Amino acid sequence: MVENEKVLVVDFGGQYNQLIARRVRECNVYCEIISYRDGLEAIQKAAPVGIILTGGPNSVYLDDSPSMDPALFEMGIPVLGICYGSQLMMHLLGGKVCRAPEREYGKTLVHVDTASRLFQGVSPDTVCWMSHNDYIESPAPGFAVSAYTENCPVAAAEAPERGLYAVQFHPEVLHTQEGKQMLHNFVYGVCGCKGDWKMDSFVETSIKQLREKIGGGRVLCALSGGVDSSVAAAMLAKAVGKQLTCVFVDHGLLRKNEMEQVCEVFGPNGQFELNFVCVNARERFYEKLRGVEEPEEKRKIIGEEFIRVFEEEAKKIGRVEFLAQGTIYPDVVESGLGGESTVIKSHHNVGGLPDYVDFKEIIEPLRNLFKDETRQAGRELGLPEELVSRQPFPGPGLAIRIIGEVTPEKIRMVQDADAIWREEIGKAGLSSSVSQYYAALTNMKSVGVMGDERTYDYAVALRAVTTTDFMTAESAPIPWEVLQTVTSRIVNEVKHVNRVLYDLTGKPPATIEFE
Ligand code: XMP
Repeated sequence: MVENEKVLVVDFGGQYNQLIARRVRECNVYCEIISYRDGLEAIQKAAPVGIILTGGPNSVYLDDSPSMDPALFEMGIPVLGICYGSQLMMHLLGGKVCRAPEREYGKTLVHVDTASRLFQGVSPDTVCWMSHNDYIESPAPGFAVSAYTENCPVAAAEAPERGLYAVQFHPEVLHTQEGKQMLHNFVYGVCGCKGDWKMDSFVETSIKQLREKIGGGRVLCALSGGVDSSVAAAMLAKAVGKQLTCVFVDHGLLRKNEMEQVCEVFGPNGQFELNFVCVNARERFYEKLRGVEEPEEKRKIIGEEFIRVFEEEAKKIGRVEFLAQGTIYPDVVESGLGGESTVIKSHHNVGGLPDYVDFKEIIEPLRNLFKDETRQAGRELGLPEELVSRQPFPGPGLAIRIIGEVTPEKIRMVQDADAIWREEIGKAGLSSSVSQYYAALTNMKSVGVMGDERTYDYAVALRAVTTTDFMTAESAPIPWEVLQTVTSRIVNEVKHVNRVLYDLTGKPPATIEFE
């Protein structure tokens, strides 16, 4: 929505496509992802100041592999090819790419020519992340080799006067120790960017643009209490104040104190001026969930009931011109609209697109932002850190973290256990090193002994995972003492829990959620 100098990532199906764009944005340069299928015209239309071709799973020399019109390299726009992208650049311009005698995978020592613009300030011997079966045997005419490894004669090649750079390794991943510097060199040293992508100016400009677009119209926004919808609501509140109505449906399945926090921030005593409606629909949801054990059925029931409640509230407000949503950039990419991603999320999100509300247009003020940028925008807007740094939380809430039937009593157990787990992780200083953590309530009851009494109570499962993309995850190595403290606190403080288990399973084969 804000016009900035732009770098374009052309996606060839590599697993790091979003990461490349994020890294570029971390250099304060706006970056978007498009699919190679969109072709040259789309690239011209986007008018980027630089282009990055991503990696991908194919071999450039096979007939049906993803390709590009070679005119791309004649547009006078600098191009950086990464992995598959580097091989494609060489292949299309007359170099030779073939299967490497030895596959390179993992951290690899690369010898770089520090006189290259791409490698300014980089150590001559630097560790980079390699992952390839093919390699560039000889670069295209006019290209000079600017890096090599023991097994790879052309780890980088360049034709600087044409602004063309190719690297076999992945500068975007953190294992490439000086990768950030290389990308910085590309966008500043090669593309000549000024670095005008800054969150404070994004927020300011977005507010101005929202005001212009909305005029005197009315906006309706479903607040879930999560980061994205909260930031969208805060931005809209700053832009149009009382023209905005936020509806927050309390389904009684949120974490401990979450409903109160949302009401504190967005309610009448909060920091924003807006119309805030908090609907206490707990009983309705509990009623619908009574006797239901199957997780997909719970999701369906909650999704439908949410829509019903929201619809009732929307009717009271009457016709609105705009419906606001907290869609962020990964949602756009993952739903197949940008890039080459094949992953389509099918989460039943509370706050999904309600097609029953009478409105003229959808507004998605965060559509261009990555998650970390969304959090940053939230901070700029003055939202409290607790809200801004919130972990992902499934729309159906605690209902899916309770195995088997959901009852108010079980919700209380899982809320209390989860609050203790979160508190202790925070105290141990682990919150930033673990990606997601929560407590779930298993449906298992077993015998225990407390004082002199026999108990027959529930087992709580603790989950903590590290992950970069939430598609795969590993169980986090939480120190034993922390686990012991949490265990003893939970069995002592949470009534009807007499056992605590720690889940060591990764994803796959498990999922992150414990449903
Ligand atoms: P799984 O359990 O599929 O979860 O490994 C991957 C990530 O997605 C989150 N998740 C959801 N997020 N609505 C959401 O917005 C949902 O229905 C939902 N279900 C799972 C989960 O917390 C994890 O971060």
